[in-house]
Amino acid sequence: MPRITPKTLLKAYRINPLLPLLLPECRTIDQAKIEYKWLSQELPLKKKNYNNIRLLKACQLRFRHYPLQYILKTQPFGNIIINCKPGVLIPRWETEEWCLKLISNVKIINDLKVLDLCTGTGCIPILLAHSLISYQKNTNFKGQLIGVDVSPIAIDLAKENSRQLASNIDGTSLSSVLQFIQGDILNQNNIINKNAHFDIITCNPPYIHNFIRAASVRCYEPKLALYGNLIFYQNLIDKWINRTDSFIYEVGDMNQVQFLYQKLKTLNSKDTWKVGFAKDSNDQVRCVYGYKSNNTRLPMNHIFEKFGQILC
Ligand SMILES: C[S@@+](CC[C@H](N)C(=O)[O-])C[C@H]1O[C@@H](n2cnc3c(N)ncnc32)[C@H](O)[C@@H]1O
Repeated sequence: MPRITPKTLLKAYRINPLLPLLLPECRTIDQAKIEYKWLSQELPLKKKNYNNIRLLKACQLRFRHYPLQYILKTQPFGNIIINCKPGVLIPRWETEEWCLKLISNVKIINDLKVLDLCTGTGCIPILLAHSLISYQKNTNFKGQLIGVDVSPIAIDLAKENSRQLASNIDGTSLSSVLQFIQGDILNQNNIINKNAHFDIITCNPPYIHNFIRAASVRCYEPKLALYGNLIFYQNLIDKWINRTDSFIYEVGDMNQVQFLYQKLKTLNSKDTWKVGFAKDSNDQVRCVYGYKSNNTRLPMNHIFEKFGQILC
């Protein structure tokens, strides 16, 4: 990464003495100005002619690579705002992107059953539930969405996010279809009622297995949410595959896609699975997905028709 030159620092200082503190994360003066505007909108002066200490502290935190969303305490996700706090992964645009793509294919289904594993802030099931309820305003959405996470901080935040949104829209429907459960999907059984069967399992698992370059992520976001490799994809095969008609798992690379593809190809099951992968708008492989091509309640081939590229 190129160094920030003294000339750029001086130029930024002359515009605003706090801007140089934002440059290490923002890299350009224009981006630093945008971020400064966001910070000053969220942390406005409480009194006239009073030094804005909160704003100064926020800029100092940014200088130490502290994530912007932990300072602002929110992150937009689709058309909703998700509360963020340290200890819980900040929702990413890559996740938002595939989530919106899924929503556009399932929004008319009024009894969709979704299990979101590794739910974090709850962004995936909350956006899904919110979108389906809003879209189907004349009918009564009767589906069910469950989010599971091992972290009690995450589950508390997911519940808070769901409550907050419920008070903004038709509260009764959101809280009656959405549920969050704390549990360790790798080591615990019976987190979910053993008879429950889902149309879709979504999951953005910890999948990073190499060095994280971004200091804001490496130093401040929870390691529990970041590091992993194949273990959560193996867990899908071991524990969940017989309990769903389809799945979408976020991935970091093509090896993780191939791993699941091979496992499903050799799975001893009466079901036939189609497996594919989808790229994000940065042209990076971002999801592996699969659906049964027989014995399903919903037309899975239709739902996943344009989701990505089928491997088999
Ligand atoms: C990459 S984050 C995804 C969070 C959220 N779904 C999102 O997309 O922003 C992974 C999540 O998995 C959770 N997690 C890690 N190990 C787990 C386990 N064994 N069982 C359940 N959840 C786990 C972490 O607490 C974290 O919230």
